[in-house]
Amino acid sequence: MDRDIELLQRAVPRLLSWFRENKRDLPWRHDRTFYTSLVAELMLQQTRVEAVKEKYVAFLEKFPTERDLAAASEDEVMKAWEGLGYYSRARNLKSAAETLFAEGTPRTWEGVKSLAGVGDYTAGALCSIALGLKEPAVDGNVVRILTRLFADGSAEGDALKRKFKEMLRQVYPNDTADFCEGLMELGAIVCLPNGVPLCGACPWRELCRAHLCGEEERYPVRAEKKARRVEHLNVYVLRCGGKYALRKRTEGLLKGLWEFPNSPASAPPPCPLPQGKALAERTAKHVFTHVEWRMTGRLWETEEPFPAFLWATAEEIGREYAIPSAFKAFKDWLK
Ligand code: ADE
Repeated sequence: MDRDIELLQRAVPRLLSWFRENKRDLPWRHDRTFYTSLVAELMLQQTRVEAVKEKYVAFLEKFPTERDLAAASEDEVMKAWEGLGYYSRARNLKSAAETLFAEGTPRTWEGVKSLAGVGDYTAGALCSIALGLKEPAVDGNVVRILTRLFADGSAEGDALKRKFKEMLRQVYPNDTADFCEGLMELGAIVCLPNGVPLCGACPWRELCRAHLCGEEERYPVRAEKKARRVEHLNVYVLRCGGKYALRKRTEGLLKGLWEFPNSPASAPPPCPLPQGKALAERTAKHVFTHVEWRMTGRLWETEEPFPAFLWATAEEIGREYAIPSAFKAFKDWLK
């Protein structure tokens, strides 16, 4: 352990100088407040930087402060989140904004962690980036760069994250923001997964045990993954007088979002359908963290607007109703 801490101590200043020279110009790295960092970090959970950039700017234009977000309606927030996926984050962000507005900015790790949607990693990131607290943020990317630095063959998982957090705590520099983002940045643009690390550009190339042995690709050692559950769904795109049927999801995955009516492939349709063949048919797949949907979508023209659904034109849907990306393949039918 001491040998590893010594190595890590030597790695810190190299990372800081490298980060200051090479960091990407990302919108959340300007004019930071606790609130803007919170928006960025929740958006960046499970979503790539490239996908977040534009959404982040547009979101803050719409809701520049926690006060604006706290006052917004859930539908407005969902609409601004559209396309980012994992919508519970949007609901959490609104709830966290309400807490910030009511109670002010938290000052401790516990205070940050108690905000809705903030897990250990995000709490570490917010403490380091927005509050100057020496609280490490360790996710899969940080695990990857550290398993390579130490040539650590432990399997990925919570125990390894805890070990690395403890080690980082011992060497955390005063510039907590640059250190935290430097670790993220190295994982994002140099120490890449899947066999293509750009070791020639790495500030740790003279220290990294995996690189010195030419064994970057052996790390991190993967833990066994559980298979995803597969669900088969029929999706009904119903058109009536130029309007389309929508239904609000009231629980579980994608709660609070609007969807085309759908039901498990083994269940009957959610409303009576016209006789004959559908106007169009296509299949699509959407992969969530723990579930995979295999969907068969059909477009139908109905005579009566079935009253259990909300009926809206394509234009209204585009403007007001957030439909999750899972149904993207069927949105092409709207006109
Ligand atoms: N991923 C999570 N947080 C990030 C940040 N602040 N900058 C870049 N990538 C990130």
